[in-house]
Amino acid sequence: MATKHPQARPANPRFSSGPCAKIPTFSLDLLADAPLGRSHRAKVGKDKLKAAIETTREVLGIPADYKIGIVPASDTGAVEMALWSLLGARKATMCAWESFGAGWVTDVVKQLKIDAEVKTADYGQIVDFADVDFNTDVVFTWNGTTSGVRVPNGDKIPADREGLTICDATSAAFAMDLPWDKLDVTTFSWQKVMGGEAAHGMIVLSPRAVERLESYTPAWPLPKIFRMTKGGKLIDGIFTGATINTPSMLAVEDYLVALDWAKTVGGLEGLIKRSTTNAKVLWDFCDRHDWIANLAEDEATRSNTSVCLKFTDDRITDGAAFAKAVAKKLEDYNAAYDIGAYRDAPAGLRVWCGATVEASDLEALTLWLKWAFEECIAEQ
Ligand SMILES: Cc1ncc(COP(=O)(O)O)c(C=O)c1O
Repeated sequence: MATKHPQARPANPRFSSGPCAKIPTFSLDLLADAPLGRSHRAKVGKDKLKAAIETTREVLGIPADYKIGIVPASDTGAVEMALWSLLGARKATMCAWESFGAGWVTDVVKQLKIDAEVKTADYGQIVDFADVDFNTDVVFTWNGTTSGVRVPNGDKIPADREGLTICDATSAAFAMDLPWDKLDVTTFSWQKVMGGEAAHGMIVLSPRAVERLESYTPAWPLPKIFRMTKGGKLIDGIFTGATINTPSMLAVEDYLVALDWAKTVGGLEGLIKRSTTNAKVLWDFCDRHDWIANLAEDEATRSNTSVCLKFTDDRITDGAAFAKAVAKKLEDYNAAYDIGAYRDAPAGLRVWCGATVEASDLEALTLWLKWAFEECIAEQ
């Protein structure tokens, strides 16, 4: 029997894990200063790109001697660029606990055919860095977007490691503390915690990563969009705003606007606080109900951005169909968009809780979630 749905909907029902909700103050008018129709190599364009790099450094607290570049093809482009340019100099260790990490394993083992140890953990669990040899090059995803499991901190990464750490931090940057001294290559996209646009990625290189780039040439050919060196020297321009190819100046403007907003909410500390407050709404909801649980098994690894949930009620006969039905009902009622679990992940929901989402919208969502759950149980 149909029950009455909650009265108030989330003011913004956009809980997609990427592209993620725009900043709460977003309006197209905010992009009026974009130098549209101008060259990205003109002073006006280069200044904008440089500002995007240096404001990223400021907000994220990236050390002055680290290089930051804007690169093609979003986070995927940034990760691929790192893997293809840096790996092969020594043995690698590939760590994966969900589908994106698994994708990097495929690239390294099947495409690049690098001598690599592969360490995996099931959805909900994580690879213990105590068992990882950091004298190899280690590739991992800080926050597994499709499992909602994150590295708790960098304590187990040795300061005196001989290998490089290559970290896909796309759903972590701007929402979690990243220990820059433990990360040699860090990548992310604007379309996640900052609610920016996709298509452009960022790559952050430690001095050790630069040293590797300048002293090692991979045995395989590198396409132009992956090349960070010329004649054995880093192409410095990439890290000062002279991008490899043409960027979208509209997307750049949008990112600058998001960075300005980030400063108004307290910078990195404020962004982390917003994400954690958001995620806590769902963590607490799980604690209060025995039919839903966090996919992350260990509290210390629970993501505060991509919160993944599983249904645990014995009455559910077909887990995948049930989760899909709940997500569809919420979408049909405009209460929540795009919260079905990722296609390769276990059945359930994935609700983005990054800094651009409002806690009050997540509170409203929990009422709808309860309603949709009860409806779907009755409709089975
Ligand atoms: C952990 C992780 N890596 C890589 C990607 C791919 O990012 P993009 O589509 O921005 O290249 C995503 C996207 O959701 C992700 O969550």
